[in-house]
Amino acid sequence: MADATAAMTMDKGLDHTIIGESTKSWIDGTKGVLEYVGIDIDDLARNSTFEETCFLLFNDRLPSQAELEAFTADLRSHYGLSESMLAMLRTFPSTASPMHVVATMTAAMAFEDSACNDTSPEAEMNKALRIIAKTPAVIATFDRLRKGLDPVPADAANCIAVDFLHMLNGELPGEATARALDVCLILHADHGINASTFATMVCVGTESDMYSAIAGAVGTLRGPLHGGANERVMAALEQIGAVDDVEDFVMGRLSRKEKVPGFGHRVYKAYDPRATFLKTFAKAIADETGNEALYERSRAIEEVMAREVGAKGIHPNVDFYSATTYFSMGLSIDLFTPVFALSRNAGWAAHAMERRADNRLIRPRCQYTGPHGADYVPIADR
Ligand code: ACO
Repeated sequence: MADATAAMTMDKGLDHTIIGESTKSWIDGTKGVLEYVGIDIDDLARNSTFEETCFLLFNDRLPSQAELEAFTADLRSHYGLSESMLAMLRTFPSTASPMHVVATMTAAMAFEDSACNDTSPEAEMNKALRIIAKTPAVIATFDRLRKGLDPVPADAANCIAVDFLHMLNGELPGEATARALDVCLILHADHGINASTFATMVCVGTESDMYSAIAGAVGTLRGPLHGGANERVMAALEQIGAVDDVEDFVMGRLSRKEKVPGFGHRVYKAYDPRATFLKTFAKAIADETGNEALYERSRAIEEVMAREVGAKGIHPNVDFYSATTYFSMGLSIDLFTPVFALSRNAGWAAHAMERRADNRLIRPRCQYTGPHGADYVPIADR
């Protein structure tokens, strides 16, 4: 039988496939460089805010002061959850994975948007802002409800990082913690066509709506090979217990050909520039909060990994030191990946809008290896 796929190239992980053009982020995996719209991630982490980074990703340029103020006001006008969203959150079991909660609530945001199917740039931007503005309340409110605490309402006087920590803990964070989270949000905001961004694009490619696309992205981010790795890093750090046990832990995993969470990357073969930043943060926050031992274990894992597999280009990725950072900030472990999602909403939405403007249905093929012309055997004869 003629096989139309015979002349095609198998690319199982799409490592060698470019699926379109983008102006959002650029990665040089051999030099360890990441830029958003041409601006080095280090520059943004030192000087920008999450809100300004969102503007940059959506508009392909930095805002003027007046533009940033207008953008921020627009974003904040969407803070908080309606009574029916709150009621929905109250029905979820306290044992639910917060990532399932975020995915469900992201899809549910469509219930209250009559322009859900309007794909004009204005309506798309409005959806992006709604998702970014409401996700912090979804995560914080679910966390409080499952702990038997009353929700803390959103406060439009605060930036996203401050308001999230306020809604989560019931008190305003210190300046250093708030800035640390803001920088983490900047560092996680976009990263080319990673798996979850690709999921967004597949969904948008069918002309589905942004809520569906981002709900799918949240589910994709949850996997331990992607954003879910930060929770696995923390589980490993807890399992190790003492710095003296690091060597056995790492060598044991490597000898069993098991991955060490938080290391390796499909694109980076040099040090992930986000990890460089997060390492410094992890140390500073761990020192401040009495989690020095945790940082020491992280550093020891990195040392053994560098010795054993560093030459193969396996280095810490963004998830490795973000685990120590988030834990030292007092976040529950199963909120690490939701916080990643909170930030990556920006990148997902930016790519969704970009793809929408120049769309093509994404529809790859697979190499069929099953039989042909097989008989249908009646059930009674099987
Ligand atoms: N620990 C030990 N060895 C590793 C690791 C790791 N974390 N990552 C890669 N390797 C080794 C593999 O065993 C393989 O070795 P081999 O050639 O001797 O067989 C080689 O490096 C290539 O690994 P692949 O899995 O084929 O590389 P791929 O590009 O498919 O994987 C991935 C990238 C999935 C991120 C991988 O490095 C991994 O599983 N890391 C652990 C999970 C993780 O931290 N994920 C978060 C990534 S960042 C993000 O998504 C936000």
